Amino acid sequence: MNFNEYPIESLMYITNRPEIVFTHGKGSWLYDNNGKRYLDFIQGWAVNSLGHCNDGMIEALNSQAKLLLNPSPAFYNEPMAKLAGLLTQHSCFDKVFFANSGAEANEGAIKLARKWGKKFKDGAFEIITFDHSFHGRTIATMSASGKPGWDTIYAPQVPGFPKADLNDIASVEKLINAKTVAVMLEPIQGEGGVIPASREFMQQLRELTKKHNLLLIVDEVQSGCGRAGTLFAYELSDIEPDIMTLGKGIGGGVPLAALLSKADVAVFEAGDQGGTYNGNPLMTAVGYSVISQLTAPGFLEGVRARGEYLRAKLLELSEERGFKGERGEGLLRALLLGKDIGNHIVEKARDMQPDGLLLNAARPNLLRFMPALNVTNEEIDQMMAMLRSILDTL
Ligand SMILES: Cc1ncc(COP(=O)(O)O)c(C=O)c1O
Repeated sequence: MNFNEYPIESLMYITNRPEIVFTHGKGSWLYDNNGKRYLDFIQGWAVNSLGHCNDGMIEALNSQAKLLLNPSPAFYNEPMAKLAGLLTQHSCFDKVFFANSGAEANEGAIKLARKWGKKFKDGAFEIITFDHSFHGRTIATMSASGKPGWDTIYAPQVPGFPKADLNDIASVEKLINAKTVAVMLEPIQGEGGVIPASREFMQQLRELTKKHNLLLIVDEVQSGCGRAGTLFAYELSDIEPDIMTLGKGIGGGVPLAALLSKADVAVFEAGDQGGTYNGNPLMTAVGYSVISQLTAPGFLEGVRARGEYLRAKLLELSEERGFKGERGEGLLRALLLGKDIGNHIVEKARDMQPDGLLLNAARPNLLRFMPALNVTNEEIDQMMAMLRSILDTL
């Protein structure tokens, strides 16, 4: 269908979108309404852990769709229980609550911490978060985020989220007072530009929060579910947080998220938390397929190997073109361009012929790479060749 034949004008404006309509995808490739194909290193914003239209996920979706869609969140269902079991088996957490988006899972984490503070810490409610962090688009998660400008856009904010600096333990310590209940951070700031919290900082944070009887909350909506080369990024620091949130990759493309906690932190009482679609069997069945594939023998080793391969290729390109290096973990990486040409490259890559390339500039001076976790080395080579050909035209 021609672009002008789609009733695009009925969609509410929220951002500038290119004049193409995506129609289907498979693995690392997306196809538009003109039949043009794109090598996809965005993958639904680090969402499609197993690429587009993964066979196992399709099978899970189809068979569950014939069995049961939603018995009500107030009843147990089989996929919900099976996925919760799989997540507790493969993490340091004991309890799981399912949500539909990363922001909603983070809202749940904020509520759980505040409830815990009410119960065990004299009503302490402040959660220390970080500059340039991103936790979602609800009013509370926007308030928790340290994204510049978000404090004024829908003012007034939800109070109780003082901001510290990532990788600076003194900046956290300074903010602790009697009202503090938790520290919440992304182990790798994704939207902020792929900035990892150092192993040393994560360990210092764990020590500091223990010392002051505070909860440590990791937002692994972007860094979790294999993206960082381990099932969860907190594992890279050899620490155990109290609360973790998951989103994006856990559903491999369908709306699914989760809030996990240690048993002694799971203090919700009847009616404190819920939601119509939370833990619905259709999405949790898909999540079960995703997590089963990610935890299959050898899969995460493969992610680490491909992450290492991408890292080496990006470093080589950086040296060749005089860029500022690269950073990240696993298959969440950034090429530091040293100048604000990221958005220009993104547009040129998308518009390339005959095949396009989908990249993201999380900040104007860098490119972010978040391919499918089962991307091949050949596809990484292909992406690098396409990127080089764009850089040649600048
Ligand atoms: C670390 C982090 N937390 C939360 C979110 C929000 O997730 P969602 O868009 O599913 O609400 C995002 C989305 O980019 C994220 O990267």
